[in-house]
Amino acid sequence: MPAFATGLQTLDIGQFRNIETAQLSFSPALNLITGPNAAGKTSLLEAVYCLGRVRSFRTHDANQLIRYGQAAFRVVGRVGLSDGRVIPVGVQRRPGSYDIHLEGRPLKRLSDLAGRFPVHLMTGDTVNILSGGPRYRRQSLDWALFHVEHNYRNVWQRYARALRQRNAALRAQAPVPQVTAWNKELVETAVALDRLRRDYLKDLSGYVARELAALLPGKTFVIRYQPGWTQDLSLPVALDKSLDKDRARGYTHAGPHRADFALLVDDRSAQAHYSRGQQKTIIVAFLLGQVKLQHALAAPKGVFLLDDLASELDAEHQARVLSGLAELETQVVVTAIDTQALDLAAWPTHTRFHVEHGDIQEVL
Ligand SMILES: Nc1ncnc2c1ncn2[C@@H]1O[C@H](COP(=O)(O)OP(=O)(O)OP(=O)(O)O)[C@@H](O)[C@H]1O
Ligand SMILES: [Mg+2]
Repeated sequence: MPAFATGLQTLDIGQFRNIETAQLSFSPALNLITGPNAAGKTSLLEAVYCLGRVRSFRTHDANQLIRYGQAAFRVVGRVGLSDGRVIPVGVQRRPGSYDIHLEGRPLKRLSDLAGRFPVHLMTGDTVNILSGGPRYRRQSLDWALFHVEHNYRNVWQRYARALRQRNAALRAQAPVPQVTAWNKELVETAVALDRLRRDYLKDLSGYVARELAALLPGKTFVIRYQPGWTQDLSLPVALDKSLDKDRARGYTHAGPHRADFALLVDDRSAQAHYSRGQQKTIIVAFLLGQVKLQHALAAPKGVFLLDDLASELDAEHQARVLSGLAELETQVVVTAIDTQALDLAAWPTHTRFHVEHGDIQEVL
């Protein structure tokens, strides 16, 4: 198995959002980022996220990340590896294109490293996993599986390709055999994806239930999975049944690209039956359960980013998240306008940074 990333040691930022330049040395444990509104706290998290995932969590247009009036941004991290090495990783963005370097060599995609350096994130939008469309849940599921199942990315890409080709044939109103020619590859990869997703969610259910037991005592928790086609049909039969509809609409209706899952607390949908505060609690349990399962499956550690923790969660839930992450000995970066209220009992040491007008200084 190739060496995987254990944490981010230093970060060098240039012209990213409102941050002109910054050089930071991170703690392998807890890092606290404080500063007033609009200082650049979320921008700093976004820079770390961008290094791990080569995109933002706030915009689809990466050009917006370039500081106003500048030609490009640059984020360079020194990433510790499980074999003890420390390697430089760099992401640069000019309008329209990314330029990624790993150990001084250009890379087409950062996925080589990103697959081994998970960046977990919790922001106010994370509740979209509950209240947003199925796309958010599929993304969360796929992303988790990319890190724990070596084969997942490969099968997923094969599935996506077969689906694209089949849909292209449907859109072009091609003769039926040209459409169904893709069924074999589609079904083979779909069944593999389905099995991995099903097994993962089953395990995850147990982990989340344990987290939730501490946060909402006495309530049951299960994840109900929906594979993307009628449960009691096999996928080939489902594809046959929907062929007319597929041809009429120009796309494939049945398959893992339509999968979804629901979080059920006491047999009720978390999304439909619980308050916003309870939903956040459920999300906290979901994320902690996910990270703990990943660790149990020996996935690489990576870093956990928490944006504006204090405004998202009350004191008890903040403490639970911080102590849950401390148990995992994972690297954490937390932003807050004021960290006085944070319960840091679980973290004996931490590094503190203060941000004002895009200027980031370590607080010694
Ligand atoms: N491309 C850009 N170039 C320069 N400044 C930008 C760019 N994009 C956003 N900004 C500005 O950067 C500032 C910092 O934003 P950021 O969201 O990081 O603040 P924050 O510290 O997280 O604030 P809050 O506490 O309100 O969440 C904002 O004033 C924003 O308008
Ligand atoms: Mg912010």
